[in-house]
Amino acid sequence: MKACFYRAYGGPEVLQYGDLPDPVLEAGQVLVRLSAASVAPLDWKLRAGLLQAHFTPGFPKIPGRDGTGTIIALGPESTDFAIGDRVCVMAPPPLAAGTYAERIACNTINVVKLPDAISMEDGAAVVNSGLSAWISAVRTADIKPGQKVLVHSGAGAVGGLLVQFCRHLGADVTTTCRDGNQDYVLSLGASRAIAYDRDDFTTIEPQDTVFDLVGGAVHDRSYTVLKPGGHLVWLTALPIVDRGEEFGVRVSRAMISDDGEAVSAMLDLVAKGIIRPQISHLMPLAEAREAQTMMAAGTVTRGRIVLQIP
Ligand SMILES: NC(=O)c1ccc[n+]([C@@H]2O[C@H](COP(=O)([O-])OP(=O)(O)OC[C@H]3O[C@@H](n4cnc5c(N)ncnc54)[C@H](OP(=O)(O)O)[C@@H]3O)[C@@H](O)[C@H]2O)c1
Repeated sequence: MKACFYRAYGGPEVLQYGDLPDPVLEAGQVLVRLSAASVAPLDWKLRAGLLQAHFTPGFPKIPGRDGTGTIIALGPESTDFAIGDRVCVMAPPPLAAGTYAERIACNTINVVKLPDAISMEDGAAVVNSGLSAWISAVRTADIKPGQKVLVHSGAGAVGGLLVQFCRHLGADVTTTCRDGNQDYVLSLGASRAIAYDRDDFTTIEPQDTVFDLVGGAVHDRSYTVLKPGGHLVWLTALPIVDRGEEFGVRVSRAMISDDGEAVSAMLDLVAKGIIRPQISHLMPLAEAREAQTMMAAGTVTRGRIVLQIP
């Protein structure tokens, strides 16, 4: 099969497009013919060797944390699925098999049916980003109507979905984005947009919850905008220092794990048109190296790059 893969850690040049053996289907797995895959920050960080403290992938490593496609074969003991089902797949980072490929064999626990109302590209744009936003807003923060919420990075893939989830849950959402993206994040449901490269977000009124998707100095300055007893929810990005006790606020890491139930709940909102997938660029699979280079350079904005797999 055609795939993008690398045989050792390194810069974008180690990522090649070529032929690899077809996956071998094992018990409890389904074989998926992939149509689309998303390009996430984790993909280039893993390839660059920056995540070796967390994951040890097998080589040749096919990147791609998530994707969508159609089931073309069932392994023994694969219940609940049929050939022809449209599905989303989650590919855990330690496995050699990712979604930048024509086919993937997946454990059924990492496969979720894709509602007919959602295109393959839109589905690929939201599997992991939507799961991350849904777990953060619903499980970790438990956002309630009327709460004041600050979402950092509202124009990013996860942040843009978080803005939409928090708005849907009835919160009053303020978000940060680069200058020029304000109208975009307002269109996602934010009430206020603050340009992080021009204005100071710490002047806003006290918030019940802050979602930090940046870490570092942004995390540190976020304590000052929380009400006493407020909640700072963070996802893994730049390293943070927990100063919750000092400021009298709760600090929680959103623990993002592959969870089919959460993906189904999130996809249901997408299928109903309540949450809108955000696609920054559509690119062919063969251009994955270029896509990862753009992502690492920080030029990708307004959603995910989605790779189309012919
Ligand atoms: N398991 C986990 O903990 C987990 C899961 C998912 C994601 N993450 C992390 O969450 C972060 C966001 O992921 P993503 O997929 O949404 O990335 P993304 O699509 O690349 O978005 C990153 C966004 O960050 C924004 N940004 C850059 N500097 C900023 C600043 N100083 N203040 C506010 N926003 C700033 C940019 O906004 P503009 O476009 O407006 O410039 C950009 O859109 C990444 O670090 C990722 O690794 C962690």
